[in-house]
Amino acid sequence: MSLEYDMFSYSRTEQEARAAKILEGIYHKGHRKGWDGQEVLQECLRAHSGAHIEPDKLEALGSIFSVILWGELAAWKVSSSLAFELKPLEAKMAATSQAHDEARHFYVMNDYLNEIGYNPEKINSATEALLENVMGTSSLAKKLLGMQLMVEPVAITIFRFVREAKVEPVLSDLLVFYERDEARHIALGVQYLPELIRKMTWNEKVGLLLFQIKLLSLEVEGLRHLEPSFRKLGINSDDVFKFAEKKQMDALALLAEELGISEKLWKPIIAMMNIQKDLAFSKELHLSIAYNISTLLRRILLGS
Ligand SMILES: [Fe+2]
Ligand SMILES: [Fe+2]
Repeated sequence: MSLEYDMFSYSRTEQEARAAKILEGIYHKGHRKGWDGQEVLQECLRAHSGAHIEPDKLEALGSIFSVILWGELAAWKVSSSLAFELKPLEAKMAATSQAHDEARHFYVMNDYLNEIGYNPEKINSATEALLENVMGTSSLAKKLLGMQLMVEPVAITIFRFVREAKVEPVLSDLLVFYERDEARHIALGVQYLPELIRKMTWNEKVGLLLFQIKLLSLEVEGLRHLEPSFRKLGINSDDVFKFAEKKQMDALALLAEELGISEKLWKPIIAMMNIQKDLAFSKELHLSIAYNISTLLRRILLGS
């Protein structure tokens, strides 16, 4: 650890200067829009005279929000690490603001789960592997891509669908605050990742793309584990998946553009991922076979 006296002494393109301004704005917006987690939870509880969850839905809601809870901890760790490691002032500020938000997301979700009498459980192995891959990488670009552009869009999708399904009124009110914060976090990835990618070697770029494909594959598997819980809450998992997929494909398209990958090379990757997702989410009787094929595909591709 050392003082970086050279942190201001590098030139920026016009595009990078514009992104830096937005990143600085993320920090200030986070400050202005910050909310008191203890106070907001108590207000939501008061407004609805406590949390009310139908007993037969508690397990399903708890299993989905255990994934969210541990995902919030992963986001807290990753954003803290980015706040520590990112060099430019504005990106460092945006990551610091995110770490503050994630700490609040984590403790409020924990308090909420305690309130409804649910003990957060260990999450499925695919989602656990996904989060550990993002937390464990030493590459700043992989951390940003994994957390801000892959994990957070899925979290925001789950928040939206659970809120709209009106599963539990206190949670629906709380999730409005979460969604607002998560949108700022995605912006950190969108604004800063291109600058990192432009400085990468070709090998590093290919490594980043393979990392993204690996994460997509683990995400598909993780969402598949949650399918019965979504069904129990009256949420169509196909809709959840399509919404999350759109957000992810937008991120992948942005990355491909930055990598200078032509459509010709890029389309087969999308097509392959779509086939894998369709197989994993097939409603046919052969669901388990399809799932095995998709797992095999991942092994062939990634050797994992
Ligand atoms: Fe969060
Ligand atoms: Fe976040």
